Amino acid sequence: MAAYAVPQFNNIKSYLESQLEKSLLRFITCGSVDDGKSTLIGRLLYESKMIFDDQLASLKNESKKFGTQGEEIDFALLVDGLAAEREQGITIDVAYRFFSTDRRKFIVADTPGHEQYTRNMATGASTADLAIVMIDARKGVLTQTRRHSFIVSLLGIKHVVLCINKMDLVDYDQSVYEEILSEYREFASDFGFESIQAIPVSALAGDNVVTNSARTPWYDGPPLMEYLDTVEIRSDAAEKPFRMPVQWVNRPNLDFRGFAGQIISGSIKPGEKIRALPSGKSSTVARVVTMGGDLEEAVEGQSVTLTLDDEIDISRGDVLCADQSPAEVSDQFQATMLWMSDSAMLPGRSYIMKMGAREAQMQVTEQRYRVDVNTRAHEAAKTLDLNEIGVVNIALDREVAFDAYRQNRRMGGFIVIDRMTSETVGLGLINFALRRASNIHRQALDVTKDLRASMKGQKPVILWFTGLSGAGKSTVANIVEKRLAAMGRHTYTLDGDNVRHGLNHDLGFTDADRVENIRRVGEVAKLMMDAGLIVLVSFISPFRAERRIVRQMVDEGEFIEVYVDVSLEEAERRDVKGLYKKARAGEIKNFTGIDSPYEAPLAPEVHLNVGAMAPHEASDLIIERLFAAGILDV
Ligand code: ADX
Repeated sequence: MAAYAVPQFNNIKSYLESQLEKSLLRFITCGSVDDGKSTLIGRLLYESKMIFDDQLASLKNESKKFGTQGEEIDFALLVDGLAAEREQGITIDVAYRFFSTDRRKFIVADTPGHEQYTRNMATGASTADLAIVMIDARKGVLTQTRRHSFIVSLLGIKHVVLCINKMDLVDYDQSVYEEILSEYREFASDFGFESIQAIPVSALAGDNVVTNSARTPWYDGPPLMEYLDTVEIRSDAAEKPFRMPVQWVNRPNLDFRGFAGQIISGSIKPGEKIRALPSGKSSTVARVVTMGGDLEEAVEGQSVTLTLDDEIDISRGDVLCADQSPAEVSDQFQATMLWMSDSAMLPGRSYIMKMGAREAQMQVTEQRYRVDVNTRAHEAAKTLDLNEIGVVNIALDREVAFDAYRQNRRMGGFIVIDRMTSETVGLGLINFALRRASNIHRQALDVTKDLRASMKGQKPVILWFTGLSGAGKSTVANIVEKRLAAMGRHTYTLDGDNVRHGLNHDLGFTDADRVENIRRVGEVAKLMMDAGLIVLVSFISPFRAERRIVRQMVDEGEFIEVYVDVSLEEAERRDVKGLYKKARAGEIKNFTGIDSPYEAPLAPEVHLNVGAMAPHEASDLIIERLFAAGILDV
């Protein structure tokens, strides 16, 4: 054990220097709950002596309190981190651990095995060079093993160590080991792994972790620690074309303008030509500036500030590329997506896509298929639920620079953020650009919205009625439209029941279909407003996110949200169309208010409490609002 480095505090400088020279291996561990990941990592840390004495003392105490190993040290506790997690008995976040040997430094992302925590596993995997896939010898290859291995391969990890653990519980039986290995090899045959090293271990008893075990004489490979210490991992990031996303524009005074960021592939020297994307403008690098002075050359992994020969317009989120091999630019992609949220991914809903410093609004325009992680069969599905993987087409509101993920991990990977909650809900890998829309340009028209509106002598606006089925949206909208018509206004009403007979006759009532329903109607309402009309839209429109998107599609003040508020009991009591009765009887599925949600507006422009007022009074309130807002005048 003395072979492994121990920090020497009396000689910290030489210790740090020796650390700097060592190569770095980043790896993750994955597997199901109780496969023994934490125990294994704990043992690696212990054996490499990166645990300090005080930690060890507290570990001994904790082991007695929470451990599952009697008086022995429970190595899992070392890794399981937070006390709250310990009490639950599961690990719930990515924990990065550092340890080192005489040869190498290691960063290990310990990722939980619990089914719902695939997101942490994917987060850890996105920066790793190698994955340890843990398998319980008694259980063999499980769905979790398959899911995690699939994600590991999607994320571009090329080296896998298959740790077949708990060999002590299967009497160190070679045939068990062989069977698991051959099943795994077959399953992973098209994952593009460059190496799969299987090792029979007992993380608990220590077999084949640091030294070869006498109990597995049939195993002639290296113990885990030795393998990790010597496995060759090639990083080709340095040979790839130069890419540097601009983190910020550094302009301390008028004479200096530098672009700061980390080089994610390739290298750069003063005098070399670069191209800034998405603008496509070229320039020549004048200086490569760092805190420690100017450099002759900077390479992948370094953070630098570049100054250029001429003043081209570059801002945060742009990517500086080698002039002769630039990245691609597009606003439409096909991507593989891993969904990590309890609320399903819905095509048509607007999300935020984030690729490093690059950010854009994104929509899934179409889901091509979902992947069954066990068989990898493509299944027809419109949405993705928690932990599901699918291939989708996405559209952005602007062009971004990218490379396909398999060519450059950091140029082609992105996360998806929910606009309402700001949570990370998905992880995407760009497969390729879809060029369709890039060739469609907006046509500038001479007759404008303002001109069309002024010819009609009115201010166009969208009056958006939302509320439960049977609340009276259409009734109130109808009265308002009649009153506007009587005032000589040009109007049009888009009504859910009517539009669903024509334009949207292909849509039903799943969440995904309702999102698409509202997206289309929002676009139509916008076109009509562009034509100069006062548009009344009467749809349940149950989701805040989609109503907000329509609001953001038009100018401030042009979207008036009218909440036709009635209690479910009242709507059901009225049951104008007899639909509630059918829904209660189970004859209609996904009925709003019954087995499909309705998200009430938080700050509607007009709130109509229609349980306590007649439709005419409700229309008075809307007309008043239109006067107050200057849409109508006397
Ligand atoms: S929305 O949720 O997508 O905005 P929309 O307003 O177009 O709904 O359509 C709602 C109308 O469709 C209801 O007024 C009702 O007449 C009818 N309908 C039929 N099935 C359902 C259902 N499962 N949920 C709600 N409305 C339904």
